[in-house]
Amino acid sequence: MPDTLTVTDNRTGRSYELPITHGSIRATDLRQVRVSDGDTRGLVSYDPAFLNTASCKSRITYIDGDRGILLYRGYPIAELAEKSTFLETAYLLVHGELPTTEQHADWAHEITMHTLVHENIKRFMDGFHHDAHPMGMLLSTVGALATFYPEATRIHDAEQRRISLYRLIAKMPTLAAYAYRHSRGLYYVRPDNDLSFAGNFLNMMFKMVEQRYQPVPEIERALDVLFILHADHEQNCSTNAMRSVGSAQPDPYSATAAAIAALYGPLHGGANEAVLRMLMRIGSTERVPEFIEGVKAGKERLMGFGHRVYKNYDPRATVIKEMADQVFSVTRSHPLLDVALELERIALEDEYFVKRRLYPNVDFYSGLIYQALNLPTEMFPVMFAIPRTVGWLAQWEEMLLDPEQRIARPRQVYLGEERRAYVEMSERDGRVMAASAAG
Ligand code: CMC
Repeated sequence: MPDTLTVTDNRTGRSYELPITHGSIRATDLRQVRVSDGDTRGLVSYDPAFLNTASCKSRITYIDGDRGILLYRGYPIAELAEKSTFLETAYLLVHGELPTTEQHADWAHEITMHTLVHENIKRFMDGFHHDAHPMGMLLSTVGALATFYPEATRIHDAEQRRISLYRLIAKMPTLAAYAYRHSRGLYYVRPDNDLSFAGNFLNMMFKMVEQRYQPVPEIERALDVLFILHADHEQNCSTNAMRSVGSAQPDPYSATAAAIAALYGPLHGGANEAVLRMLMRIGSTERVPEFIEGVKAGKERLMGFGHRVYKNYDPRATVIKEMADQVFSVTRSHPLLDVALELERIALEDEYFVKRRLYPNVDFYSGLIYQALNLPTEMFPVMFAIPRTVGWLAQWEEMLLDPEQRIARPRQVYLGEERRAYVEMSERDGRVMAASAAG
């Protein structure tokens, strides 16, 4: 059987044979489908929000949403969460293979060497208002980093890409912690390069007057696992922003700032913050049924539920639920945990959610963990951005090295006015007056 698709255009009766490669047809092959010789555009595929359009070929992350499978470079997410560290996983995403001992030591060394930020970056952050949202601070400061490393514009130079990648992965926790400490009016803590990636982040966030900050091992590990779970998620909104903006070939700091902006939105990285606010609003298990009725009546969404791709349990949510138990064993149990459990129980039984295949996603429990770590809700999307930087960069580099990729430029289906004669302002005023007199 040939790997082709035969399409018949019933407007003209003509048939076309389109090649199928890797389970896809090329949308540009539809251009040959034309109604007449004067039809210069040809047929386009219309796909608002990319519901069924692959924008790239990728070898990084695989998701089977129906079966609840997530693989980084072929490795199941739960296994990486159990056996790997965030830095190992980051190496895997960027390089395609898990590192050897030596590769890991070099990688960890390089990332650790780049954790400091320029003193002017601190001053830049000082300029923000005391109640500035840390995600807004992060996105503008990452954009500002581009001006500190003008050589980063040489994106076709592999060495420059490598250094930018180290810098971005390494500085993200520093900037995130500084954004937090700025909002608290606290001094900025220098990175402690003897600590792990997650341990150092906790140090920069929470060190007070002690000589040396010692992270609680259970919390350090839980945070590392959360970072692993959030490191990549194939072509989601922010990754698409990274690739799309990156396709115009700016430096990676500017492209990452665009990705952070996408992640800022409540339907994406802002969801865990929205989950916490929702749980606080519900307040007690008794009020859960009433809230669920409101969701079903279309008054609002059950945040932390549903996913564009997963139509089954999000495999990251399963790991996170276990992590929550681990964290709550060393912090006190979370007052809103019962509300979350009750919401999940009712929603998973309710026909509205079952029919639409709405299951808890990664954000349903991550907010509870972050709050147990004493993080303010505004910091939640920032906690997402730190590890996702790795995925963005891996995807960005894959896009740059893909000879088929060009500047991203979607088509449109134009439904506006046809060409018409310009109307002078005096005539427009006359028309408006006539219309209002008639109305
Ligand atoms: N609560 C109630 N109803 C929902 C929800 C929800 N959370 N999500 C989807 N639906 C309904 C929706 O109203 C629609 O119903 P109907 O067919 O009657 O109109 C149906 O389910 C399909 O929804 P959709 O909006 O077409 O689905 P989507 O794929 O466009 O949206 C989503 C995916 C994640 C934006 C959406 O499920 C949502 O808004 N969830 C809440 C926000 C959230 O938790 N986001 C975090 C996503 S995971 C983190 C990440 O990877 O970024």
